Amino acid sequence: MSRYFAIVPAAGSGSRFGAEQPKQYLPLAGRPLIYHTLLALCRSSHIERVFVVLAPDDMHWRHHDWRDLGPKLETVYNGGATRADSVIAGLQAAATAAADDDWVLVHDAARPCLSQPMLDALVAGVGADGDGGLLAVPVADTLKRAAADDRVIATEPRDGLWQAQTPQMFHYTPLLTALLAARDAGHGVTDEAGAIEAAGGRPKLVRCDPTNLKVTFPADLALAELILFARRER
Ligand code: CTP
Ligand code: MG
Repeated sequence: MSRYFAIVPAAGSGSRFGAEQPKQYLPLAGRPLIYHTLLALCRSSHIERVFVVLAPDDMHWRHHDWRDLGPKLETVYNGGATRADSVIAGLQAAATAAADDDWVLVHDAARPCLSQPMLDALVAGVGADGDGGLLAVPVADTLKRAAADDRVIATEPRDGLWQAQTPQMFHYTPLLTALLAARDAGHGVTDEAGAIEAAGGRPKLVRCDPTNLKVTFPADLALAELILFARRER
């Protein structure tokens, strides 16, 4: 029986957000943003251990109390220059725990609204599919292509287009091999699925919804708080 591990890349600086500290540590519903992210993963009965990948010079993690998250959590201070480097570092830290065909769920620290039903849908939707899969949302808006002056030059068909989210779930060794190969080839992949695709895989898209948002800009943080509060009131 394959087991499930989570890797949470959290070594980014949040440059687009523009706060004084990295966005994963900003207050959200009374806790650091990343607390909510990690809580969803630690709570899941599917997941055995959660590896959170911090920047080697992270000054923030130690100033918070993470005990409520329980015993599944492991911190590693070996994040890299890109998200893919941080994920590779997390996979390497998990090497002694994970077997070749164990599942790894890679989830952005900056997606704090992941819910248990979303996790259950991903695990069920991917099932035993060897190519793995990811949460994603079909594109709903009309897509415009712009020139440098922000004027429309074309309307693009949106048929078959999805927005990729996380978690993205793959077998341990194929994922590590694909990420290392993409790095060696100089492919600037921005997600794990991109590396698996470059290796010839066809990951499965498991439908999610826009509440699994990534906090990138300040308005996203306000929206994430509304989502978390609305869930508490239900
Ligand atoms: N990440 C990481 N290591 C990096 C870059 C990003 O672990 N070298 C993580 C971030 O901490 C985040 C996730 O990858 O949880 C998604 O990245 P993104 O939203 O781009 O976060 P940042 O890179 O921090 O933000 P920005 O691109 O605005 O600087
Ligand atoms: Mg980034």
